[in-house]
Amino acid sequence: MALLKITSLHPSLGAEVAGVDLSKPVDAPTRQALSHALADHLALVFRDQALTPSQYLAAASVFGPPMEQHYSQHNMPDFPLIGLVWHRNGQQPAEQWHTDHTNRERPPAATILYGVEIPSAGGGTSVANMRAAYAALSEDERRRLESLKTFNSLDSGRTDTRQEDKDKYGKPIEHPMVRTHPVHGSRAVYFHISKARIDGMTPEASRAYMADLLDRMIRPEIVYHHAWRKGDVLIIDDRATMHRAHGDYDRRQSRVLWRIIVEGDRPRLD
Ligand SMILES: [Fe+2]
Repeated sequence: MALLKITSLHPSLGAEVAGVDLSKPVDAPTRQALSHALADHLALVFRDQALTPSQYLAAASVFGPPMEQHYSQHNMPDFPLIGLVWHRNGQQPAEQWHTDHTNRERPPAATILYGVEIPSAGGGTSVANMRAAYAALSEDERRRLESLKTFNSLDSGRTDTRQEDKDKYGKPIEHPMVRTHPVHGSRAVYFHISKARIDGMTPEASRAYMADLLDRMIRPEIVYHHAWRKGDVLIIDDRATMHRAHGDYDRRQSRVLWRIIVEGDRPRLD
């Protein structure tokens, strides 16, 4: 087993992991330790990695099977399980707080990002601890959220979704608004504001409530901000966090992240 050194990066979430070269095979005890570290810290950072697409896919599979992404126009041509996050292919940085691909029956356990080209300033990624957000709500609101379900489909605001992706991934999928983490056992608030409609509410009321929740829940105390360095691998636990990109960088510079999402369990509230 690799000798892991895990150093916390923020009081609420985030830890740097040293002692693992992700370009090499990861043995079973190390996989187990990393899976628990992710469940505990919710965001893991590995510095100074140098990965080919195949090595990156192998490393990502430590956290679950890589799954197809539904903006297939941005996938790496020879490695379609890797999505390219890059403004020069027409993407806008995802600056709204969200969790990835909630429109799947088994949405990602984790989103994995690898920093390939990094602007000299700005362009970070923030991750919010939705386990802490849940715990900070009033008892009444926790009970209310536990009673609510969402129906999740593709983003309402996107105009560039391919028809084949709409056909494959457009069917509404039901999830609880509070989910129990399958490894950690704790509860977290779970929704994607532009993919979800809350069952029993109009789209407008549902969106207004989710926007209000985000405003109240996401405070600096529960946010880890990742300032990218080339070679960083950031692993985000999608079962208990939300994240967002920051578009505050010079667009004449390139910001290229390779993204892999790995399949998790069907969300449930135990
Ligand atoms: Fe995302």
